[in-house]
Amino acid sequence: MKTDLESLEVCQKWQLPTAIKGAGIGLRSRHYQDIITKKPEVNWFEVISDNYFCAGGLPLFYLEKIRQDYPISLHGVGMSLGSTDPLNLDYLTRLKKLAARVEPDLISDHLSWISVNGHYLNDLIPLIYTEKVMEHVADRILQVQEFLGRQILIENPSPYLSFTDATMPEWEFIQGLVKKADCYLLLDVNNIYVNAVNNGFDPLKYLDNIPKARVKEMHLAGYEERENYLLDTHGYPVHPPVWELYQAALARFGAVPTSIEWDADIPSWEVLMAEAFKAEKLLKEVA
Ligand SMILES: [Fe+2]
Repeated sequence: MKTDLESLEVCQKWQLPTAIKGAGIGLRSRHYQDIITKKPEVNWFEVISDNYFCAGGLPLFYLEKIRQDYPISLHGVGMSLGSTDPLNLDYLTRLKKLAARVEPDLISDHLSWISVNGHYLNDLIPLIYTEKVMEHVADRILQVQEFLGRQILIENPSPYLSFTDATMPEWEFIQGLVKKADCYLLLDVNNIYVNAVNNGFDPLKYLDNIPKARVKEMHLAGYEERENYLLDTHGYPVHPPVWELYQAALARFGAVPTSIEWDADIPSWEVLMAEAFKAEKLLKEVA
């Protein structure tokens, strides 16, 4: 399937809010106190939705306090958009309630699946890129968007394998998916780089094939170098080739809000701020 990138105009059924600008940071519990007491100069926070689905408790208390001073993007892992299980209405209802509570600018999840027969896995499992799978995922995204009453962003994965049954590369699958589902993209630049090295393609070609108007958020993170592949651990500073690819992404997509993801060996607040500052500097150059 070939898609004309210029024909991928966005249907404005819903309007995305626009408070989120510049570099943001993934909110992690060890930094709650620092943020509340010092009110650091961060543009916005990205929050793992699934961690705040309870009706009360300390995490939600901190989140609501932080929300008073900062815009929020909700990023989830549990939609399981590629699964053949029915959509999890309990999950979506909890997400909708959380969204009503914190009024996020953006809501996102992943291009993957994590559940089978109601059992949830701890990993995001990659999809086989075919027309049939595209139809299936697009249909589920449309249902989710109708349920939430807003468009969502889909994040590109970092798969460690490719499937012989796939009939198209990931970027072509994404082109078709955003058109069918009328959704947006959260482009993870680190994932593109890790995927390109592990699966042997040109990451710039990937960027060139992503429709510009759809990219509303980007991610930066650090991978781990293993013997013969890269592992997407989110446990290191952003590596130089990913910064380089990020600059190419900014040149193509403009100053898209970008968050720093750090999930393993979470460092001090100052280290995270330094990473966000680097991104902010590059964002200002293209803005
Ligand atoms: Fe990411």
